[in-house]
Amino acid sequence: MSSTLPIGPRSPSVVQMLRWIRRPIPMLEDCRTRYGDTFTIRFPAMPPMVLFSDPAAVKEIFTASPDALRAGEANAILEPFLGTNSLLLMDGQRHKRERKLLMPPFHGERMRLYGDVMRTLADDAIDSWPLGRPFPIHPEMQRITLEVILRTVFGLDEGPQLTRLRDLLTEAAALITDHPLLMVEFFQRDFGRLTAWGRAMRLREEADRILFAEFARRRSASTAGRDDILSMLLEARDEHGQPMSDIELRDEMMTLLIAGHETTATTLAWLLHRVLANPSVLDGLRDEVQHVGHGEPIASERLGELTLLDATIKETMRTMPIIPMVGRAVHTPTAIGDIELPVGVVAAPCIYLTHHRTDIWGDPQAFRPERFLETKPGPYEFFPFGGGTRHCIGAAFASYEMKIVMSQILTRLELRAAPGYRARVIRRGIAFAPSAGMPVVVERRAA
Ligand code: HEM
Repeated sequence: MSSTLPIGPRSPSVVQMLRWIRRPIPMLEDCRTRYGDTFTIRFPAMPPMVLFSDPAAVKEIFTASPDALRAGEANAILEPFLGTNSLLLMDGQRHKRERKLLMPPFHGERMRLYGDVMRTLADDAIDSWPLGRPFPIHPEMQRITLEVILRTVFGLDEGPQLTRLRDLLTEAAALITDHPLLMVEFFQRDFGRLTAWGRAMRLREEADRILFAEFARRRSASTAGRDDILSMLLEARDEHGQPMSDIELRDEMMTLLIAGHETTATTLAWLLHRVLANPSVLDGLRDEVQHVGHGEPIASERLGELTLLDATIKETMRTMPIIPMVGRAVHTPTAIGDIELPVGVVAAPCIYLTHHRTDIWGDPQAFRPERFLETKPGPYEFFPFGGGTRHCIGAAFASYEMKIVMSQILTRLELRAAPGYRARVIRRGIAFAPSAGMPVVVERRAA
């Protein structure tokens, strides 16, 4: 049993962080070539992170006691963005209780209620796209997924509040994207509107005012007949019969928004990228959508018949998992394989590297959706939504939304990638996104 951390890059932690921000995939691949399946990377003012990409090790981490390996503690860097009462930042009993409270609307019948809203919002966006000239599709996907969350999670209807909140959130997301160093505590200093952090704080104050007013308005009105997630949380009571406070509600709503909007939009942008770059996959998808829908929108209960689309979404998330790794802070010394991890380090299953192992995937760079039709990979070989007790609560919601948006695009549009475009991976906040917003050209649109 080794008690020292696995080796990794020896460059100063600032250099490692800058490399991570600028060229994350080459950095990961380089480390794997040099150091193997397990290595340690270091960023300033953060605990050392030990990355794992062997499925046996990933399984040990995801099935370890959540008290010994803590996701909430490992996600502490997100606290200034989400607030202290975010599910992502909780551990132990509190996490278990809160997760139980948030889960129901993300499954089964309740989730299917949101299908019509998703389809209408996708159609509205599709109607607004220009014909015959390149435009970036990633911001369009963000527009759809943000709107889906504002309607289904927040239950906001058209009006000045929705418009203002949408503007504030779009501006805040752009700030974080343009200033990735805002993720680092040192740069989170409020020197007024001239600094990015100062601007972020002003946006947050205004968004809070709108949200708190909305909570008050909803508390005084009946929630009967409403199926949005905010209405459900307003009714929820803890074991002492107490409702959630404004701050608790705000933190959970922002968590669902931040965790659910950019992630789904960016995966959709990569999905289009992969499909447009692989004409045989595009043809297969068109045939499938035509076969199931006969040119009409595909009803929610028939989405399950789109098996090639399901496999294509999975293959996109395998080749381009937009969140490249997840973390667990070591709270009690824990052995993973023959490595003894001490308190104060983070164990990080690396999604990207596990998804690119030749022993599991053969030729991992090849885009082959059929892989997912031929075999079903295990949860420690393919885990774009993380794993164990922290597996993404929005996984089914996101997959459902991606199928609806993509099947509408395939049914109504003929489109291609913009001429000469070559996607580079850039970082947006914590996600890997395609460069230049992934420009496309729409050639034909059906009503
Ligand atoms: C393609 C889209 C998405 C991807 C790739 C994604 C990915 C992830 C990942 C990797 C995690 C961390 C899991 C872990 O630590 O093991 C996570 C957690 C989470 N996600 Fe997602 N997510 C997506 C969509 C969504 C949506 C639509 C929502 C909600 C509306 C959502 C809400 C959450 C929440 C609340 C957590 C924290 C769960 C916990 O800590 O118990 N996500 N997601």
